[in-house]
Amino acid sequence: MALIGVFDSGVGGLSVLDEALRQLPQYDYIYLADSANAPYGEKSSEWITARSLAICKYLDIKGCDAIVVACNTATAEAIQQIREALPIPIIGVEPGIKPAAMQSQNNIVGVLATEATLKSDKFNALLNTLPNDCQFIIQAGAGLVPLIESGEADGEETLELLAKHLEPIQDGGADTLVLGCTHYPFLRKSIRKLLGESITLIDTSDAVVRQLKRQVETLKKDRSEKNFGSVLFLSSKNEESLLLMAQNLLSADLSLHAVEARFLGEMR
Ligand code: DGL
Repeated sequence: MALIGVFDSGVGGLSVLDEALRQLPQYDYIYLADSANAPYGEKSSEWITARSLAICKYLDIKGCDAIVVACNTATAEAIQQIREALPIPIIGVEPGIKPAAMQSQNNIVGVLATEATLKSDKFNALLNTLPNDCQFIIQAGAGLVPLIESGEADGEETLELLAKHLEPIQDGGADTLVLGCTHYPFLRKSIRKLLGESITLIDTSDAVVRQLKRQVETLKKDRSEKNFGSVLFLSSKNEESLLLMAQNLLSADLSLHAVEARFLGEMR
């Protein structure tokens, strides 16, 4: 049975793990949250690359058959180096600006992502491939990740900060908003409170997991009697709080899986 590594700077990648558990519950997973170092989005490009590479090498050594870099920031800065360094399929995530441009009715799209993602060459190259009849209103979500990491996704402080970040997007008349950081799907409720029900929210977890499925199927490791695989949660900060956050944030029923949580001492 395939063992899949899912990695993020913290709890954001749980939004991708959730979709993976829904579509591919039979696989075994290691979810690695580098919460001791979150947020990545305000760190240097060199630091993000080195750390993301070290974590993916660790997951490879632990026996992962494929790795999902469930972090837009790490993907933007390091995916190429990770792919060059490791012999297994590496699946990245990137802001869904293409599907957003296709779905927008008025051709005005808001993009909320980390500063590092928005500044990256990869994101700007992607932006340049899109036709210029679509207007993008780009906004860095500074300060949001630490609030989500501390379990405050629905809190007052988060709502206030989010209101500030979304103001230019709302004033600009966007009918579509790209959630360009895997932490942000956990802000759905707060975003809906501020922007209403009519705005289209774009999150690429579904497409990322379909891509994972295609890649793992080529490995021919998905034959098993089990319907539900195991999930090992690893945290560089606090494994109990990671498990608690996972139980709160995931819509998947973790009780169907063999679950364990461990402190990631060796990667601190
Ligand atoms: N979840 C991340 C992303 O998708 C990282 C956020 C951060 O650590 O700043 O970009």
